[in-house]
Amino acid sequence: MDSKPEGTEEVDADIIADLPGDGTEETEVEKKQRLAKEKKEALKEWGGTASFGRLLSLATWTDLLILVLGILGAIASGAGQPMMCLMFGDLIDGLGATMFTNFDMAAMSNMTAAEQTAAIEALTAEAQAVMLQNVGETAINFILIGCGVCVAASLQGWGFAYFADSQVKKMRPLYFDLMLHRDVGWFDTHSPGALPGEMMADLEALHEAFGTKLGVSVMSFSGLVIGLTVGFILSWQIALLMLATLPLMAGGAVIMSSAVLDFVQEAQGPYEKAATLADEMLFAIRTVVAFGGEAREIRRYSAAVESASRGGLRNRIKTGVGMGYIWFVYFAAMALAFWFASKLMYDGQEDLTSGKVMAAFTCVLTVGFMVGNIAPGFANIAVAKASMARFFYLVNHESTIQKRLRDDREVIGPIETLQLDEVHFAYPARPDIKVLHGLSLTIQKGQKVAVVGESGSGKSTIMALLERFYDPLEGAVRVNGKDLRNINIQSYRKQIGYVGQEPVLFATSVRENILQGSSMQFVGRY
Ligand SMILES: Nc1ncnc2c1ncn2[C@@H]1O[C@H](COP(=O)(O)OP(=O)(O)O)[C@@H](O)[C@H]1O
Ligand SMILES: [Mg+2]
Repeated sequence: MDSKPEGTEEVDADIIADLPGDGTEETEVEKKQRLAKEKKEALKEWGGTASFGRLLSLATWTDLLILVLGILGAIASGAGQPMMCLMFGDLIDGLGATMFTNFDMAAMSNMTAAEQTAAIEALTAEAQAVMLQNVGETAINFILIGCGVCVAASLQGWGFAYFADSQVKKMRPLYFDLMLHRDVGWFDTHSPGALPGEMMADLEALHEAFGTKLGVSVMSFSGLVIGLTVGFILSWQIALLMLATLPLMAGGAVIMSSAVLDFVQEAQGPYEKAATLADEMLFAIRTVVAFGGEAREIRRYSAAVESASRGGLRNRIKTGVGMGYIWFVYFAAMALAFWFASKLMYDGQEDLTSGKVMAAFTCVLTVGFMVGNIAPGFANIAVAKASMARFFYLVNHESTIQKRLRDDREVIGPIETLQLDEVHFAYPARPDIKVLHGLSLTIQKGQKVAVVGESGSGKSTIMALLERFYDPLEGAVRVNGKDLRNINIQSYRKQIGYVGQEPVLFATSVRENILQGSSMQFVGRY
């Protein structure tokens, strides 16, 4: 039986044309450019990227010590690969111990056949013993390196992850605190809906910058430096030759990574589209069922999924070709290196052993593969410096009205008079449209005042100014004759109650809702 859902066989052109957002939405490249431009403009507001020191400014000495341990671990574990290559060379030389080393042709020629056999057997046994001892020593060295790398890699993994976690953990509540203490006007120009997501993304960038990826970068960098040094000490000619082949391999890596990137981007769009479709259908499931539209909806969904898999194939092939090319260069380099090494050895470089050749060769090649790991981790730091710019701007720039740390302004008691004095006002989001033009008004204690006017005339604006959500552009709001700007904001807010046009009820009792913000404690129940 055919298990395919009905109607998935043919995909009509009209169905493909019907997929949401086709053709009109921005491409990935356009999106990236737009985001980069937005980021750049935002950075101007936050006074440029945060310095590296700032990123570390919440770290305690313990945090820093753990980071340093992580860095030392990364440096040591970076040395692991070159050390292994070195041991590999030792192993080859160790295995190469043969009876021929001590073979004395002249002495042999004077012996009887039986004596010759005995002498050869003795030499063979001696060579075997030497070989076993060599290999045994090398094996122990391998184990020691293994233990060292085990400790180093653990330190690396723990140090970087701990540091990143502890910084973000400290910054998360602080970031929220900073946001909560912005003035109301600030939220007019910074869309509050987007803020939680942006805060999360900023902290995520910081986490990426100091997390395990940085560890890998440090490790790779250390591996590269140590590997090249060891390679050049062993045989500078072989090391130089291998270094020359690395760019050829890098070409393959570039093809591969671009294919992977393209693949992710190409697949993302259509899958997102498919997800949107599924959302739409399930949300309107009653309508779909009522019109018997299931078959058509399944066709649309299949078409969206189909277009995702088509994009993938070309890039999968590219990935394969890139991989194949890298291995080809790898083997070709091996051929070149060994040919060149044998030439060197025959040309009288007696200190060059096959072990050294192998070690120099593998050293340079393995660290060559690490080069690609270095940049991403360090690039993340640059990203974090940009992302955290707003955070540190907010740390440095207290709000005018709300005070987060200390409010030294005069504390106020019960209100006797409220007064608007020649108040001019425009909202921060629309600075060129004036809402109040020199309004004056005095309200005495005990008075009931109604402000009447047509919609949009500025009634709510007066309330917002009396609440000191905003400050007037000119003139002043006075309480008991004192300019509201000089009054401790919390003490003032305690004296006033405010029910807005669209009141917000918190998820608690009515009583608790009424008592919000009040320091009064009522014992009884009402
Ligand atoms: N947060 C805001 N940002 C920009 N303009 C605003 C904002 N709130 C109100 N306005 C504008 O200010 C004017 C006065 O609004 P408002 O005081 O709410 O009027 P009312 O309460 O009398 O209906 C209106 O034109 C309104 O569009
Ligand atoms: Mg209103």
